[in-house]
Amino acid sequence: MKNFTEQLFGGSWTEKKLEILKKYLDAYNTALKKQPFLRVYIDAFAGTGYRQQQKRQYNIQGIFEELEQEESKNFLKGSAKLALEARPSFHRYIFIESDKNKIDELEKLQKEHPEKAHKIEIEQSDANEFIQNYCDNEDWTNTRAVLFLDPFATEVEWPTIEAVAKTQCIDVWILFPLMAVNRLLAKDPKKISYDRLNRIFGIEDWFENFYKTRTLDDIFGQPVDIIIKACNFDRIGNFYKNRLRTIFSGVAENTKVFYNSRRSALFQLFFAVGNTKGAPIAIRIAEHLMRNI
Ligand SMILES: C[S@@+](CC[C@H](N)C(=O)[O-])C[C@H]1O[C@@H](n2cnc3c(N)ncnc32)[C@H](O)[C@@H]1O
Repeated sequence: MKNFTEQLFGGSWTEKKLEILKKYLDAYNTALKKQPFLRVYIDAFAGTGYRQQQKRQYNIQGIFEELEQEESKNFLKGSAKLALEARPSFHRYIFIESDKNKIDELEKLQKEHPEKAHKIEIEQSDANEFIQNYCDNEDWTNTRAVLFLDPFATEVEWPTIEAVAKTQCIDVWILFPLMAVNRLLAKDPKKISYDRLNRIFGIEDWFENFYKTRTLDDIFGQPVDIIIKACNFDRIGNFYKNRLRTIFSGVAENTKVFYNSRRSALFQLFFAVGNTKGAPIAIRIAEHLMRNI
C-alpha cells in the first residue's frame, strides 16, 4: 500500500512560491554568470532550510510510485536549501533569522554543504534592521543580489523596501500578506491599525484609498459623516504594487495570489528590480514564471 501526499495533485501554494524562487535563482545566475559581479542571495526570513510537509494521506496502491519518491524529496526543502542548490551557484549567501532554534538548524545546513560553507553567513537578527543596515553599508559597485522576503505576516516594513530599492542592485521577491493586511484595515475605524499600516505602506494616503466618507442622516435627521471600508484584496494588492513602482526601476505587472484551502487569498507575490539596465530581462523572466507556475 502506497502513501502519497496532496502535493502530487498540483501542489500547495508554498511549493509554487518556492518553485518560482528556485527557477528565478537559476535563471538569474545563468544570465549573470559572464558578468563580473559578485552574486549574493539574501534570505531575510530564512527559516531552517527545510520545512515540514503537511501530509494528507491517500492510500492508492502502486500509483505514482516514482513521482512520490521524487516529490517528497523536493518538497521538504525550504528557500535557503533551494538557494544553495541554485545552478550556477551564488558567490555569497546571507541567511537572516530571528529564532535561535532555527539559527541552529541553519548552521546544520551549512555543514551539509562543506564546499559552500565559507560562502554562507548566518545572522540572528531582525530582518528589517539587518537589511536596512546591509543595503546602506555594502559597496554595490560590483555586487548584485536577489533578496527573498518571505515573512509569516506583516513583518516587512516600508523603510526596508526603500533601502533595497535605493541600492539599485537588488532583485526582490516579496510575499505580501494580503489577508493579514485586510484584517488590519478594520471595518470599524476605531479598530484600524494605523501605525502598523503606516509601517507597511510607508505613507498615510492608504486611508483615502481604502476608506470612503459618506454623509447620512442620523435618527434626528441631522447629517452625520460615517467612514466605510471600500476595498477588496485586488485594491490592496494594486495599491502595494503602485507603491513599489514609485521606488523601483521595474515591477512585474504579473503577480501571484496564493489561496488557502477555503479559497481565501493569503499572500500575493510581487517582484521588483532596482537596476535599470537589468530590469527588462529580469521582469520578463519573473512574469513568465508567475504566469506559468
Ligand atoms: C514563512 S517562514 C520562512 C520560510 C522559509 N523562507 C522557507 O522557505 O523555508 C518565516 C520565518 O521568519 C522568521 N522571522 C519572523 N520574524 C522575523 C524577523 N523580524 N526577522 C527575521 N526573521 C523573522 C520566523 O522565525 C520564520 O522562520
